[in-house]
Amino acid sequence: MIKLKKKILVTCALPYINSVPHLGNLVPILSADVYTRFLRKQSNEAIYICATDEHGTRTELEAAKRKLTPDQYSRQMHNTIKNLFDWFEIQFDYFGRTHCKDNREITQAAFLKLYKKGYIFEQEITQLYCSKCKKYLPDTYVRGVCPKCKFEHAKGDQCDQCGALLNPEELIHPYCSECRSRPAPRSTKHLFLDLPKLSPQIERWVKSKKDWKGISKNLPLAWIKEGLKPRCITRDLKYGVPVPLKGYSNKVFYVWFDAPFGYVAATAEWAKKHKQNWKNWWFKDNVHYVQFMGKDNVPFHTLIWPGTLLGAGDSWHLVDYLKSNEYLNYAGTQFSKSQKTGVFTDDAAKLEFPADAWRFYIILNLPNTSDTLFSWKEFGEVINSQLVGNLGNFVNRTVTFTKKNFGTVPNVKPNATKINAVLRIKKNWEEALTKVQLKKALKFALQIGDYANMYFQHEQPWITIKTNPKKSAETIATCFEIIKILADVLEPFIPATSAKIRKQSELKNIKVLFNKVELSRLKELEAKFSGKVKSKKLDTKPMVKFQDFAKLDLRVGKIIKVENHPNADTLYKMQVSFGTEKRQVLAGLKKWYKPAQLVDKQAIFIVNLEPRNIRGEKSEAMILGTEPAKDVALISPSKKVKEGSKIC
Ligand code: MF3
Ligand code: ZN
Repeated sequence: MIKLKKKILVTCALPYINSVPHLGNLVPILSADVYTRFLRKQSNEAIYICATDEHGTRTELEAAKRKLTPDQYSRQMHNTIKNLFDWFEIQFDYFGRTHCKDNREITQAAFLKLYKKGYIFEQEITQLYCSKCKKYLPDTYVRGVCPKCKFEHAKGDQCDQCGALLNPEELIHPYCSECRSRPAPRSTKHLFLDLPKLSPQIERWVKSKKDWKGISKNLPLAWIKEGLKPRCITRDLKYGVPVPLKGYSNKVFYVWFDAPFGYVAATAEWAKKHKQNWKNWWFKDNVHYVQFMGKDNVPFHTLIWPGTLLGAGDSWHLVDYLKSNEYLNYAGTQFSKSQKTGVFTDDAAKLEFPADAWRFYIILNLPNTSDTLFSWKEFGEVINSQLVGNLGNFVNRTVTFTKKNFGTVPNVKPNATKINAVLRIKKNWEEALTKVQLKKALKFALQIGDYANMYFQHEQPWITIKTNPKKSAETIATCFEIIKILADVLEPFIPATSAKIRKQSELKNIKVLFNKVELSRLKELEAKFSGKVKSKKLDTKPMVKFQDFAKLDLRVGKIIKVENHPNADTLYKMQVSFGTEKRQVLAGLKKWYKPAQLVDKQAIFIVNLEPRNIRGEKSEAMILGTEPAKDVALISPSKKVKEGSKIC
């Protein structure tokens, strides 16, 4: 499949700027690293190019939260992410940013080609516009009442309470999340990539990929069969690549349109540093291009991005081999920073385990054909049985025995039969890596370790050193030859360990390669990352001033009568006494309280909210209770107090 000894370009899907990657996100990034390290070792001209994916709404929002410009925020996050990848010894040849001059120029140039060739069309669509903020609102900037569950602060794309997928136009009482005023629909022009027109070209290209397997091939073909739809490639935002067309000065390209040109831009920046022409990597047949990504990225990289390049013409070099992975999930729950569940790369970098332990575990548990689960128990088992028990044990017992009994590595011929047996396993290792079968290749490396341990055990050099010293010397010389091979085959996976093994085989710096991890420690870590024990910061609404809080008038009221609302199924109509004044209050409590449980109860009410009229009945105060997640509880004074008492 892959002809070695030529120029090989390796990329992995560009990680988003907005979050620190978790272990699952690391899978394609690490896979590409292992593969490129192997290629470089085989003396190919291989480069690994990556960048952070920076544009879009989310970046603008996160930057604004921190009072930074999107570029400042991206730069900070880029450095954080870069340092973490360094910690994991991900050896990029270049790690760029999509927010850069090269990306802007390359994206715009390709767009203009597409436009001239008639693969772009304009269409008018309606979108909510906030006249106070003077902008069209992206879906997540629109908030309002969820039409399904009536949650008051649902987002324009999804309700966080009931999970319903929404369009911003469906929200009841929509408001702009920034200024709270009501946006209105307005029609605006956008640009669309004509994927239906490009479909035959894309189909021919996908079908030509005879060696592609699984979803990389089946998914695009299924989508093509169903019929590709045009795709909107412009957005009303500021942080992005400007659209080089008249009438589009307030718009930028949709982040997914410019992001993949980030591969090209980062190559161009790398090429500048190495006095090369980037075009030699992107328009030539003597390059082999391999791309790694999670399964969610497959439709994009097999349909839309290739369609974009095919449409632009110029004989762009499309991906030759696309390696996709399923998900590495976190046992029992999800990776979530806010819930403090699952291991993120910044967490991992703070623990006692070296980067190689993580690299090794991830490759050994690669989710190739189905999702896999990270578990601390398995992580510990992998360290204890493979890194300590297999590899560490063999290297350590060989070097300590040699130092003690020979002082230096005996200068005798190793056993050729044994070495040949090991080299045969190494061939399998090489073949697997050539086919990008990383897990399989690592298992061959471990097979060499097993073989070596058995050999050492069987030859008993600690006995022959007394009975037959020549034999003992041969055994040890053979073991050292195997150690060299081991350092070699392990190098792409655990480079730092491989370097240590090489040092130790000169009988320098003799130390155990890995430390055992105790079960009690694994239990501790499991608890630590389960989100249950550690205190976590409240996810609060934005801070308010005390004067603003003081504007609310909260009072104790006593419920004196409860009836059903005549026209709203979920609501009660209650009469509430505040001492001198009686008011009518509507409340959605039916699911949680029977009328008898409410009558005579004291509760807390906001009495200066503007009265509301719900389906013909007036509500003159709002009763306070806990959020209707599973159970609602009313808030009552802990002893009887005078009705109408102020709460402060
Ligand atoms: N940032 C995207 C993700 O993590 C991947 C972008 S890949 C690119 O899902 F090709 F668009 F750059
Ligand atoms: Zn607004």
